[in-house]
Amino acid sequence: MGIRFNEKNKTFKLDAGGASYVFRIFHTGYLAHLYFGAYIPDDNLVDFERRSVYASFSAQPDDIEPYTFSPDTCPMEIGCNGGADMRIASVQIRGKDGNAVTEPRYVSHKIYSGKPAIPGLPALYANTPEECETLEVTMLDPRTGAECMLVYTVFEKYPAITRSMIVKNTSDTPFEIERAMSFCMDMNGCDYDMITLYGRHMQERDFMRRPIGHGTQGIGSRRGSSSHAQNPFMALISKGGDEDHGEAYGFNLVYSANFKAEVEVDYNNTSRVIMGINYDDFGWTLSPGESFYTPEAVLVYSAEGLGGMSRAFHKLYNNNLVRGEWKHKRRPLLVNNWEGTGMDFTDEKLYAIAKWAKETGIEMFVMDDGWFGRRNDDTSSLGDWYVNEEKLKGGVGSLVARVKALGLKFGIWYEPEMISPDSDLFRAHPDWAIGVPGRKRSVGRQQYVLDMTRPDVRDYLFDIMGEVLARNDIDYLKWDFNRNISEAGSALLPPERQKEFYHRYILGVYELMDRITKAYPHLLVEGCSGGGGRFDPGILYFSPQIWCSDNTDALSRVDIQFGTSLCYPASAQGAHVSASPRASYETKRNVAMWGSFGYELDPEKISEDARAEIKAQIADYHRHYDLIHYGDLYRLVCPWDDPYNCAWMFTDEGKTQALVTYLIKFKKERRGLFLRLKGLDPAKYYRLEETGEVFSGALLMNAGISLFNMPNEDGYSKTFYFTQA
Ligand code: GLA
Repeated sequence: MGIRFNEKNKTFKLDAGGASYVFRIFHTGYLAHLYFGAYIPDDNLVDFERRSVYASFSAQPDDIEPYTFSPDTCPMEIGCNGGADMRIASVQIRGKDGNAVTEPRYVSHKIYSGKPAIPGLPALYANTPEECETLEVTMLDPRTGAECMLVYTVFEKYPAITRSMIVKNTSDTPFEIERAMSFCMDMNGCDYDMITLYGRHMQERDFMRRPIGHGTQGIGSRRGSSSHAQNPFMALISKGGDEDHGEAYGFNLVYSANFKAEVEVDYNNTSRVIMGINYDDFGWTLSPGESFYTPEAVLVYSAEGLGGMSRAFHKLYNNNLVRGEWKHKRRPLLVNNWEGTGMDFTDEKLYAIAKWAKETGIEMFVMDDGWFGRRNDDTSSLGDWYVNEEKLKGGVGSLVARVKALGLKFGIWYEPEMISPDSDLFRAHPDWAIGVPGRKRSVGRQQYVLDMTRPDVRDYLFDIMGEVLARNDIDYLKWDFNRNISEAGSALLPPERQKEFYHRYILGVYELMDRITKAYPHLLVEGCSGGGGRFDPGILYFSPQIWCSDNTDALSRVDIQFGTSLCYPASAQGAHVSASPRASYETKRNVAMWGSFGYELDPEKISEDARAEIKAQIADYHRHYDLIHYGDLYRLVCPWDDPYNCAWMFTDEGKTQALVTYLIKFKKERRGLFLRLKGLDPAKYYRLEETGEVFSGALLMNAGISLFNMPNEDGYSKTFYFTQA
């Protein structure tokens, strides 16, 4: 690991895990990208620049020998705007003269151990200074006085680099940032497929693979959240690459609001990748002396296809993104009342669920939506975070005390960022809802969104949530967000700053999350947004688990979990067994075990047999906890390759055990009679718990386990547990 600067050829070489990243200071201060890929020991890549040939119609600065070089054909670390580099820009500053030509050039650099935090934004962190090394390259656009500092951090253990940018106004007049992407990188060639995760409510993070081609292609969100529609994740994989083969480059933005990720293939077949805050309808006025921090992007390289990429993300996020007490501590097995009761409950009903939970071996009861204001359906009360005593006699305190007396932990649901038109809060503060003067607000799920850019709104939320959180022994908070933002405007921001709204909104959310998690450090926070509408590393920084989807039908949920696993670890995926009808409790359990496991049902509405089965499932879950949360995931049969069957497995780092799950979603044709495993030690022997049979790792990986006796039934699933013999 490490970052080196070669004075002679002005090359920066960044080594992270098994990857190297190389770029250099070129000509009059451009930063030319040279390489990102498998580890190479040397940095003698200067010849690479020969591909940055001059081409007719590609302009060049006049301080360079004619016809020798153009920034338009040179692979770059920063995409300039309006000058001779005519590809998509990663930075665009409009100066006081009204012009937006932006061409930052190298000024200086600094290398140090550790990793800096990003003010106001979630980011990966170093556990010890030795774990990471950071490079800051300061660039300056002399005309506007915009200093652009590119920040790179490499990780010792993982083939991962984080990148972000800090724009500082060193001039004496304000300027407007119109675009400030977190990174720009020009990859050699265009023989890649792009993989992204698209979806909607109840069908998040579906896998999409397409070849890239000339022109610009990509994804983004304009919804005020990272969104169900597109996750802020993109991978480029070499043509023909798959789970185990090919080079895969994963890009993930640590951000929960409007983002963009784009690839432009130019006429030299160079692929420019940019990712960052969505520049549509974005602007930021920067006064002299002020700095603007972009969110950070995480870049992961794998020479072992998508599987290697995913495992690197999982380890990195478990180790360097998730924080707090619950990072390593076992998270309680929970039951949530939402799918069982909706908002139709009383304290007695909830207590009955908790009592059953205790008898069954569940460790925490979570009270979901409907406990506050006059909330009996989704038409009212968001914002009125005081208890509905008609439903909970004696208040939250009494229910918490009774549940605690059973020996269970207690969790509670909030949707802090929302306000119902029919609420005391809205009647008192209509200007606290997001809106634009002269335009009617759109409703989503019959609710408006609070203006989180306002400190008074955040103070109100902190205080009113504190009325419950500080006075009761609460262990868990589900933080929901159930609509997207429209008519984005704040009553407090001046007209020229309304373009800052979306970014200021999420900064406000992060600030409140930071205050809450600092004030209540024992609280386990689970992120949520109509299921997984804000499933991103920004939220993961504050809440170590995120509700994956409102779709708890195991046979469709499994696809969501496969997609999510491309980038996010099992420990991050909230996954529950519900009363959904399509699969057996065994299959529902087998699917939900691939995550932060729990139940979501009313025990009175399920059969005696189902209750008995649930009791038996729980012990099994406990013993596999570490393997699933922190082990290595291997996707064996993926839904994007086979619509009927799927299989996945976890192994531990020492390759001493493996938990394999096979699921027939729809019976049609057999996958084959044998399922080949991955990630084992070929020289070790493993005992299959169910039968006691012993097989070599080599046999299990090359010949496979027999599926011969498996019933060919819709929804049938089976787990195989192996330990080293
Ligand atoms: C969202 C969540 C659900 C539940 C409801 C409550 O849809 O994803 O789990 O909390 O809100 O209204």
